Amino acid sequence: MPEPAPGLRTSDDTFVEHTVSPHPHADATRDRPTGSFGVAILGLGTYLPDEVVTNDDLAATLDTSDEWIRARTGIEQRHRAATGEATSDIAVEAARRALDDAGLVASDVKMVLLATSTPDYKIAACAPMVAAKLGIDAPAMDLNAACSGFVYGLQAATGMVTAGTAPILLIGAETMTRIVDPSDRSVSILFGDGGGAVVLGPDENAELGPFDLGSDGADPSGLYIEAGGSAVPVDAEMIDDRRHFLTMRGREIYRFAIANMSASSQRVLDQADLTVDDVDLFVGHQANIRILNGVAAQLGVPADRCHTTVNLHGNTSSASIPLCLGDARDHGRLPDGTRVLLTAFGAGLTWGSTLLTWRNP
Ligand SMILES: CC(C)(COP(=O)(O)OP(=O)(O)OC[C@H]1O[C@@H](n2cnc3c(N)ncnc32)[C@H](O)[C@@H]1OP(=O)(O)O)[C@@H](O)C(=O)NCCC(=O)NCCS
Repeated sequence: MPEPAPGLRTSDDTFVEHTVSPHPHADATRDRPTGSFGVAILGLGTYLPDEVVTNDDLAATLDTSDEWIRARTGIEQRHRAATGEATSDIAVEAARRALDDAGLVASDVKMVLLATSTPDYKIAACAPMVAAKLGIDAPAMDLNAACSGFVYGLQAATGMVTAGTAPILLIGAETMTRIVDPSDRSVSILFGDGGGAVVLGPDENAELGPFDLGSDGADPSGLYIEAGGSAVPVDAEMIDDRRHFLTMRGREIYRFAIANMSASSQRVLDQADLTVDDVDLFVGHQANIRILNGVAAQLGVPADRCHTTVNLHGNTSSASIPLCLGDARDHGRLPDGTRVLLTAFGAGLTWGSTLLTWRNP
């Protein structure tokens, strides 16, 4: 079996070469980084469906192997939503935990933002369903920037909080296993289901930002579902050809991901007048351990400052960053004052990065 990558948590719940960083920046009196905002994460919650699908489970019906998947992606297992469990259900579970963590109740929430590429229905928006299930009487909308959705959502929420709307519930939730072709080994092995949510509000001692968001939609076909939208309405022939499932040009996306997450992260550090030495923890979009290691190497982030969960969750798209943050906190890697660099890329194509100073809710 291939050796797990440094900093990677294995499925028996131990870390490989993991040491908790000293967090030299946990000083509340220091100046806020240039371009950051006094917006805090007041609460964080995550949810993963019960069913765990291992690589061996997939290899039982697909021409693939545990060894190939681990070596190419670092993924060991992923979670799969139960029959009848929709994205809104996953979002609700994560959101409930985030609200509990923040010590808030549904009636406190002033806005619900749901980052997702896999809403329950094409129409209606999913966030209002989530709000209704939670008993929240507030505006609610979906935000689709694919796997960059959570970072995009952080900037959208920051703008709203600074304009006076708070607290905001920001959720990343996905049922990616519903949009991949289970018989396509090149795509189906990569993705999993899950959700993560944060509650955001104003806090003069907090730091969120600066942000670097970007997009390049010149050719979305490197990572998309061709049929089922307004460009190519779905019909029986499309379904026969399986063009209603997610397809991908893997190598192209791989190169794009490393180049753009690295450059975007560096732009955030430059804007903030900080260097990579000022970063306590690196949490990238959990798509592939080789991509994450490539970005960390380009930026110069040492392995013991990276937190990764891709081996346990697979790629959960917009949920991957809050899920990874939740796991980092569960493992004592987010003491008060921890400065975290977040970066993501996704279909569209999109990318986004930001800095966050963790404050214990
Ligand atoms: C998908 C990915 C892991 C594939 O790795 P790769 O090294 O690029 O592999 P390739 O696609 O070139 O395929 C190499 C071979 O493995 C085969 N292969 C593909 N999937 C396989 C699988 N699950 N099991 C076994 N073999 C597989 C291919 O058919 C190919 O065979 P061939 O050489 O006989 O044609 C990699 O490209 C990647 O991670 N890309 C980014 C994807 C991503 O993150 N997408 C989500 C973005 S949010």
